[in-house]
Amino acid sequence: MVSYKELGLVNTREMFAKAIDGGYAIPAFNFNNMEQLQAIIMAAAETKSPVILQVSKGARAYANQTLLRYMAQGAVEYAKELGWEKPQICLHLDHGDSFETCKSCVDFGFSSVMIDGSSLPYDENVALTKKVVEYAHQFDVTVEAELGVLAGVEDEVSAEESHYTKPEEVVDFVSKTGCDSLAISIGTSHGAYKFKPEQCTLDPQTGRLVPPPLAFDVLEGVEKQLPGFPIVLHGSSSVPQDEVDTINAHGGKLQAAVGIPEEQLRKAAKSAVCKINIDSDSRLAMTAAIRRVFDEKPAEFDPRKYLGPARDNMKKLYIHKIVNVLGSDGKAE
Ligand code: G3H
Ligand code: 13P
Ligand code: ZN
Repeated sequence: MVSYKELGLVNTREMFAKAIDGGYAIPAFNFNNMEQLQAIIMAAAETKSPVILQVSKGARAYANQTLLRYMAQGAVEYAKELGWEKPQICLHLDHGDSFETCKSCVDFGFSSVMIDGSSLPYDENVALTKKVVEYAHQFDVTVEAELGVLAGVEDEVSAEESHYTKPEEVVDFVSKTGCDSLAISIGTSHGAYKFKPEQCTLDPQTGRLVPPPLAFDVLEGVEKQLPGFPIVLHGSSSVPQDEVDTINAHGGKLQAAVGIPEEQLRKAAKSAVCKINIDSDSRLAMTAAIRRVFDEKPAEFDPRKYLGPARDNMKKLYIHKIVNVLGSDGKAE
């Protein structure tokens, strides 16, 4: 058993309370490799922003859970070296799919876990979430749960709407489970293809696809039921079109990739939404920089010469999100 407190990590409780009071959101960035982690820590240290490092099941399989945990521990020391005296870094399991996975993360030094029972029948989601909360809280590890199903790219518009979180269920769910935060479904979804072209309108000036707005009425309904309770938005990448263009200009093939417009995330960050999950945008920033080097310098074969620019581009993206979208800069001085 390793306590996250020995590793210098923090759970989400205080971060979220301050974010709700202050009208901003905490960035939750996924990481799978050293360059992503370096970029996240450099961005957080430079802006003095609290940050959540997210590890998915796929990341655990790709990079090894032990290595990832030591990397997160190293990240705390690295942040201090960068001059961030009191780093506020949370290590979080993203989309935990079983009690055993969550327990293993709690036992292994994670400071926060998500149990994603959103695809289960309501009562089973309640029972599983409650079991994880009871275990995690013994060690002061915070728990994120999910209610409502995020739309998949294959869904029809009507199906998406029917999967939105039902505000009338949230009080019962939170009081029965004791979870610390709740991920809700209001129209975001994972990946770089969040909307089909037929769901969007075409901006005649830019020629870009403009997606339909998020269901802010559902968010308001949830906030009314659970005043001051921390709400989480998954699937919140904006799919920056300049990165998509760079990828396509250098041999990539990303067609009709559409994300959540940043002004909508800005609006969400000012509400009870206090954690915003971003993974795909970092993948795009990394891929765009690597493709550019491969295309422009075909003789280059030192990985530092393409992973370095990839890291720089991700750092720029993370700082932009922190400062211009989430508003979490300067909140962890
Ligand atoms: O929720 C999904 C995250 O973007 C993680 O993705 O499962 O491919 O690591 P992944
Ligand atoms: P994006 O695919 O929009 O980056 O969402 C990431 C996410 O929700 C991780 O849990
Ligand atoms: Zn997610």
